[in-house]
Amino acid sequence: MNTQAPMTLLGQLSPADFMRQYWQRQPLVIRQAIPGFQPLLSREQLAALASQDEVESRLIGDFADGGWQMERGPFEAEELPGHDEPKWTLLVQGVDLHDARVHALMQQFRFIPDARLDDVMISYATEGGGVGPHFDSYDVFLLQAMGKRRWRIGRQQDRTLLPDLPVRILADFQPEEEFVLEPGDMLYLPPGWAHDGVAVEGECMTYSIGFRVPQRGDLARELLGRMADPAADALGEALYEDADQPAVQASAAIPVSMQDFARQAIAEALQDDDNLACALGEYLTEPKANVWFDVPEQQPEGLQACYWLDRRTRMLYDEQHVFINGESYRAAGEDAALMRQLANQRQLDADTLAAASEDARALLLSWADDGWGHTGAALPQ
Ligand code: SIN
Ligand code: CO
Repeated sequence: MNTQAPMTLLGQLSPADFMRQYWQRQPLVIRQAIPGFQPLLSREQLAALASQDEVESRLIGDFADGGWQMERGPFEAEELPGHDEPKWTLLVQGVDLHDARVHALMQQFRFIPDARLDDVMISYATEGGGVGPHFDSYDVFLLQAMGKRRWRIGRQQDRTLLPDLPVRILADFQPEEEFVLEPGDMLYLPPGWAHDGVAVEGECMTYSIGFRVPQRGDLARELLGRMADPAADALGEALYEDADQPAVQASAAIPVSMQDFARQAIAEALQDDDNLACALGEYLTEPKANVWFDVPEQQPEGLQACYWLDRRTRMLYDEQHVFINGESYRAAGEDAALMRQLANQRQLDADTLAAASEDARALLLSWADDGWGHTGAALPQ
């Protein structure tokens, strides 16, 4: 992707300019980001996804009798309110994992690192439907797919939420701007901006291309957990020694020398950059809890001419490693170059694959056995 070239998707801004001027800074409304955009899934196809156990879905309504309500899926089609019943929304998370066309749409946003891309959520709302004024902790592109949605947005100082509701609703939303998005229009919102989108003039579908925003404390907890076993192995079995320990009267007091021993062990463990890099890469590529790979019924006999990653596969790399679906591999030289190409392009053409080393080919084949990658005579269109 040429990051300097103007993109229709970004209203003729280049990805470089968008990242400099808007990303994490200010909202942007892009009229006809995808001209003539048509929903990739029909209402019925979305409802069918919401009926599956492995698909995360929610039904939210602002119903006159009971106020805000929220239910988690899966939902049978007959459990969903009628299309002519106003003010309800079906939200289906991670549709890119289940639908190749939605996955392809998400690829248009890869001018932002994959480590930040999360998923595509699709919402279907009836007239007047919306999830209420709220703010999210992540960046999001809201692409209008069908019908019209009126957005009101604002910076919102007062973040107090209405109490005792199953959904997060701002108590005193103070919108600053308002606009109606039509199919193909898109709104970028940085984290923390309050927004309220309501379906107007009938049914409406919106695609949220959402990003992961690691929270410092959560990330530290996750990484420290992953680093613990390798760190313990690396630190070895050296024992605490206290030949200088004098006899004590205050028997319950922890000796300072034991605190020092602990501090040194932890400091040494944290200095292991390789352990940290692996923990981060493995964490970032860990498939979500509801992701299952389809193991091919007939194991591929060998690599065919071309290779591509399954849409559910997460693959990233750093200077020393390649990470795929929660596993890390040390990679150097030509094998590393090939694996980086696969991670960036998500596919390898026949010429590239033909030049791969035996080790690289064996690894690719083992991933195909697990359903993480696929091999065939030609790349899928
Ligand atoms: C929606 O699509 O209904 C809600 C998206 C959002 O407000 O984040
Ligand atoms: Co939101």
